[in-house]
Amino acid sequence: MSILFYCTFKNKNDWLKTIRKKFNNENVYTLDQKPDFSKIEFAIIWNIPDKILKKLNNLKIIFSLGAGVDHIINLPSYKKTPIVRVKDPNMAERMSNHVHSQILSYQLKLTLFHQAQDKKKWLGEQYSKLNSDMTIGIMGFGFLGKTVGTYLKKLNYNVLALKKDVKILNPKIPIYSHKNLDKFLRLSDIVISILPNTHDTKNFINKKFLNKMKKKALLVNIGRGSSLDEKDLLNHLNKNKEFFAYLDVFKIEPLPKNNKIWSHKNVTVTPHAAALTDINSTIELMLKRYSYYKKNNKIKSDVNLKKGY
Ligand code: OXD
Repeated sequence: MSILFYCTFKNKNDWLKTIRKKFNNENVYTLDQKPDFSKIEFAIIWNIPDKILKKLNNLKIIFSLGAGVDHIINLPSYKKTPIVRVKDPNMAERMSNHVHSQILSYQLKLTLFHQAQDKKKWLGEQYSKLNSDMTIGIMGFGFLGKTVGTYLKKLNYNVLALKKDVKILNPKIPIYSHKNLDKFLRLSDIVISILPNTHDTKNFINKKFLNKMKKKALLVNIGRGSSLDEKDLLNHLNKNKEFFAYLDVFKIEPLPKNNKIWSHKNVTVTPHAAALTDINSTIELMLKRYSYYKKNNKIKSDVNLKKGY
């Protein structure tokens, strides 16, 4: 079977080497090899251009090289081919570490110390809350959200979740439906957004949303930039001196140099780096799903196209 590998990661050559090694009996092509597109049945991709996807008219499975699938399903030429997405404990561990580091940076006022260091100012001890005095609200409670929530709960934080359809109740982590968004925001000292990029989440974090958050609060966005209205956030930050935002994802990436977000003193920017896709564990996962397909000639898509993720 023929496989096409296309991705925009910096370490794409390492990916290609490992994929070729692990899929050792298969033909793994890149665009440079000018493959016969009509023979490609599997595509392992991240940010493929629509004009290439359009040529792949014999596709049986698409492997997304990330947890998100918006880079595929938003392309005009995407034709409902089953998608396997990354659902990897290693990715979830990295994401939990990232979130915890952002929480600690806010909780222990590390930004304040960095700012003081620039001025060679000795601030001395600062009061910091205990974990059990802080409530963390997680929006987007799928595989990654649940792992992050469980990790934080073990550290004694109060954890809440916001989920569109509340079907399964998790007794340790109260789940709020969108009907109860106001209460969820009123209770949360820190809101973590792991929302996917869908029609419903576009600018979900806007002026109205931000005004319902505590005045002294932190917003962490590690989901998708499309869910945050950046202009509303900047206005909110300018009016609320004790409001902070730690952002990893943006409407335009890389974040343009002239975007005011870069230089706001209450904002920390990280470059879409919260949780990289782990080469070895992801390829193991791919191989399992691939072998299943080869044996059974069918595969269940990980994506619900009605929900958009
Ligand atoms: C992902 C991402 O979807 O890194 O995995 O954005």
